[in-house]
Amino acid sequence: MTEEIISYDKGKRDKKNSQSLLKVNENSYQSLSEVTSINESRTMTHITELDRVLGGGIVDGSVILIGGDPGIGKSTLMLQLAEKISGKKILYVSGEESASQIKLRADRLNYNLENFFILSETNLDIIQAVIEKEEPDIVVVDSIQTVYRTEIESAPGTVSQLRESTALIMNLAKRNNFSVFIVGHITKDGMIAGPKVLEHMVDVVLQFEGERTHSFRILRSMKNRFGSTNEIGIFEMTDAGLTEVLNPSEVFLSQRNYGASGCVISSSMEGTRPILIEVQALVTSSNYGIPQRTSMGFDYKKLNIIVAVLEKKLGLHLNKSDIFLNIAGGIKIDEPAIDLAVAMSIYSSYRDIPVDSETVILGEIGLSGEVRTISYVERRITEASKLGFKKIIIPKGNLKNLNIKKFNTQITGVERIKDAIEKIV
Ligand code: TYD
Ligand code: MG
Repeated sequence: MTEEIISYDKGKRDKKNSQSLLKVNENSYQSLSEVTSINESRTMTHITELDRVLGGGIVDGSVILIGGDPGIGKSTLMLQLAEKISGKKILYVSGEESASQIKLRADRLNYNLENFFILSETNLDIIQAVIEKEEPDIVVVDSIQTVYRTEIESAPGTVSQLRESTALIMNLAKRNNFSVFIVGHITKDGMIAGPKVLEHMVDVVLQFEGERTHSFRILRSMKNRFGSTNEIGIFEMTDAGLTEVLNPSEVFLSQRNYGASGCVISSSMEGTRPILIEVQALVTSSNYGIPQRTSMGFDYKKLNIIVAVLEKKLGLHLNKSDIFLNIAGGIKIDEPAIDLAVAMSIYSSYRDIPVDSETVILGEIGLSGEVRTISYVERRITEASKLGFKKIIIPKGNLKNLNIKKFNTQITGVERIKDAIEKIV
């Protein structure tokens, strides 16, 4: 139970007709054409991946929420941002780490930060006073779960504290015209007390995701009042902090298995960029009554659907097999265009026949075994041929609007899963 304070503001109403008795101020509204537009000014972070996700740098005075699991690298990214932005005064409010811990990290990364101030404080009254005195250009609050307002009685991290603290920070930001990054941990036990409740308030919501056991991190924009939400940024966590991954396809394919069965290359659109990925399947005979299905980086339900289609339409006896599916590199793919590659990798492992390593396979699978059309085929083909793939299998329906002579790679259209199998073996 959390206590919430609600203020009652009774409107004046005509009891009988329920009409409002308030006088309207003619200046309180205007036609859109009369509104003078302002040019939003932006500050570049000089971290290319971050700038792109933000839609071209930080809009001055904007409030950016950056959420993610603990330990994913949010604080590291904020520190790197501080190093890259030059000529701006940055205030780093840390409720989690002491100033000396941050200094230690900065030393480790070899950063010499000027114009960078650390405030180890969680009381927002004090934070507000420091902001008003120092007038920074950018404020980082790490994390919103640790700060609190004294007038709210509930503990830091509760819904009312999160909401009221964010409201105060936002007001300060708009009034004093500084940009603010609010760091929020996504809690494992649902989103209730997490930053989800703040998403509607802020201008931009970024999510930092990845597997802790893998080094790749994806920065995704979930909401952006100043740009598209399509873009993602890819980073790698190294000893020297987060490094940008500017050629993701090459990285995700860097440890490819040539000639191994169960391995298939496909392409996923991440934002507006196609990324080549390796789908790996391992099909083994099951020792127990109920066969196991394990999926990493790919939707589990979708895997079950594809398996069912393979059983029904190709007559594979997968009900006596354990199936393990993995997207190499630890990224999560949430896109139908890799369905056919998933099906082919399962088939390839089941029959123990390798798929040609120069082939990229694209297509969505329907329940009757048909291969459905996908979006952005041209971009995916261009990326694949740029990386030297000789053969590309796409849905037949996509051939219609495609000038295949343009590409210097062999493009084959398939209509059903069965056709795809004939093409790859
Ligand atoms: P951190 O930024 O503290 O995560 P968050 O703020 O999201 O909780 O970083 C977490 C991990 O990153 C930490 O476990 C160690 C690792 N790390 C590196 O691998 N290399 C580095 O250079 C740094 C600074 C951190
Ligand atoms: Mg942190």
